[in-house]
Amino acid sequence: MTLTAESLANALNQRPHQFYAQVSSTQDIAFDWLKNDAPAGAVVIADEQVGGRGRQGRGWHNPAGQAIALSMILKPQPSQLSQITMLGALAISDVLRGLGAQDVGIKWPNDVLLNGKKVCGVLPEALWDGDKLRGVVLGMGMNVRVDFTGTELAERAISVETALGKSVERTAIVAQVLVRLDHWRNLLGSEALLQAWKARLVSLSQRVIVGEVTGIAENVDDEGALLIRTEDGILRRVVAGELTTG
Ligand code: BTN
Repeated sequence: MTLTAESLANALNQRPHQFYAQVSSTQDIAFDWLKNDAPAGAVVIADEQVGGRGRQGRGWHNPAGQAIALSMILKPQPSQLSQITMLGALAISDVLRGLGAQDVGIKWPNDVLLNGKKVCGVLPEALWDGDKLRGVVLGMGMNVRVDFTGTELAERAISVETALGKSVERTAIVAQVLVRLDHWRNLLGSEALLQAWKARLVSLSQRVIVGEVTGIAENVDDEGALLIRTEDGILRRVVAGELTTG
């Protein structure tokens, strides 16, 4: 089924939302809406993004009819900011498990992996007014039936349908993602959320490289920072970056 405002009506119910067949980036639309007092829980969804943004200044590939691009507006306390990205990855991994996927994990800090490959990226972006937090836009991009065969991403990226060997309905996935996002955002700031995220991390006990730090990923702290034991025995705290193993 094509993703349209009509097909999403049940999933969105009474939730404030904007839907676009094609958009540059749902993040940009949601950010503008947040500046204009969008309520917490409001979402921007698009079938296709032509200027999708990823982490670390990268782009995000989101062709028409093949993926889900969703940005949710949240109004957390500043002390809850470190859990925003966790809640996105948790919600997506819940939904994948619900679809019957066996091998679902979270690669630190927030890539959702299916069969060891990235199926969904999560991008939290905060809006500050001086030292006052106006809100956060939590963007999620899920590969549903993007064909990576023959592309340079084939080694690292996967789609839900490829992994599950069956077709799935994007409208149903959006509905489930929203249910799980609502569940986890009610638990923002809790130990339960932190522990659930930590339990799904696949990056612990691995030899990792994040920026200039190489070592064994020993643990995460309460803020979600990665604690890496380097070869000289020092425990280094890393708050952000791209993790590679090896
Ligand atoms: C990553 O680099 O892993 C994060 C990717 C986030 C992509 C999503 S798709 C919906 C939202 N709109 C964007 O432009 N980016 C995010």
